[in-house]
Amino acid sequence: MANDKVSIHGAWASRWVFILAATGSAVGLGNIWKFPYMTGMYGGGAFVMMYLVCIFMVGLPIMLAETLIGRRGRQSPVNTLKALAIESGASPKWSWAALMGMIAALLILSFYSVVAGWSLDYILSMGSGQFAGVSAEGAGAAFGALTADPWRLTLWHTLFMLLTGFVIARGVVAGLERSLRIMMPLLFVLLLVLLGYSMTTGHFMQGFHFLFNFQPDRVLDGVLAAMGHAFFTLSVGVGAIMVYGSYMPKNASIGSTILTVGILDTLVALTAGMALFPIVFAGGLEPSAGPGLMFVTLPVAFGNIAFGQVMGTLFFVLVLIAAWTSSISMLEPAVAYLVERSKRSRVLVTSVLAFVCWVIGMGTVLSFNLGAEAKFFVFSDDGFHLFQWGAEGGRNFFDSIDYLTSRILLPLGGLSFAVFAGWVLKREAVREELAMKSPLLFNLVYWFIRVVAPIGVLIVFVAELSK
Ligand code: TRP
Repeated sequence: MANDKVSIHGAWASRWVFILAATGSAVGLGNIWKFPYMTGMYGGGAFVMMYLVCIFMVGLPIMLAETLIGRRGRQSPVNTLKALAIESGASPKWSWAALMGMIAALLILSFYSVVAGWSLDYILSMGSGQFAGVSAEGAGAAFGALTADPWRLTLWHTLFMLLTGFVIARGVVAGLERSLRIMMPLLFVLLLVLLGYSMTTGHFMQGFHFLFNFQPDRVLDGVLAAMGHAFFTLSVGVGAIMVYGSYMPKNASIGSTILTVGILDTLVALTAGMALFPIVFAGGLEPSAGPGLMFVTLPVAFGNIAFGQVMGTLFFVLVLIAAWTSSISMLEPAVAYLVERSKRSRVLVTSVLAFVCWVIGMGTVLSFNLGAEAKFFVFSDDGFHLFQWGAEGGRNFFDSIDYLTSRILLPLGGLSFAVFAGWVLKREAVREELAMKSPLLFNLVYWFIRVVAPIGVLIVFVAELSK
């Protein structure tokens, strides 16, 4: 019999609310903004291929592991790992993995909020018709002007952090469910509308070809990035899915639920890619434009189609919603933990944590303008520098946090959670949580959690460090 414990923070009404919440967490800027631009940078099809392999072989098994650990523990990730480790006769130090994840999630939130803030700015400029008839150069200049202005960035970053904090402070269960039910389907509809538009550009096949054309020589270019992104887009490796799992009804089937979330997330990313690239090519723009892809190419498209002003505004509203349902899941593990630990109110804990993230996010704000020359992790001819002003080839603050989280902390966290579920928890406990009817299927899934996913992460990780 599965355990009858409930979390002190609340519980989802049904399995569907978990799907909504987990999909809301997974579908975000990673799908609509990051995936298309990374695909552009790493050569298209080869990257997409590696991404899909990473999602199904590594990402989903880890998502399963996180969910089952969370539901079994019914506490914040840190306390869940501690309790389950002790119960299984292992070291309580396992909770450090969750602690690291919690910090990674806060670091991600710090820059996520800045970028999500851009969509707030775009809602306004789209809505006021600023992009009507805009050229590619005009849209590029508008984006440049936004990122060059620390005050404007700070304003939107602050606003988005307040939005995130507001929902978390009120409790995830209460505020979220209703808006998710409306916004997630709307996001799908809008993506499909956009996809339909891109089919009329006359460059659809060019975009399609770019996404799915497999160039073997570019596979190795993007494999590390693909693994990092698989973690990022599924929200795994930090305990976000784990904390959502801790609110999951005990009779819900974890396997089919996670598969649904994974497929939805992948579909949104691919659809975003298929919608964006034809527009990029139609506008004569570069697919490898990097982080500005969505904020430069989409305005061009919307500025030049019928009803573009309305649709473009709606689109950025939905980007905002997608980002917002994700940002919440980054704050929740830490809030749950500190509420458990300090016994202080949720409102107080949320305010403090959101403020800390806001301060770190100011580093990202400045990395686009005044602090663009502040470089971290610099490998130059005279050796390694943690920090160097104006260094060639180093990473700015935003790139550094992105790199540290996506490439290092998320894989490490994911690895720990898979190993914990696969090797520390008793086989019977895992079998009970997964409750799969077919023993064959259980063995297969268990093997993925125990062996395939950890080895996959390790290979990529060692390759990364030895680069
Ligand atoms: N998955 C989200 C996206 O693709 C980002 C995200 C939400 C996330 N929660 C997370 C990433 C936790 C890492 C960890 O935009």
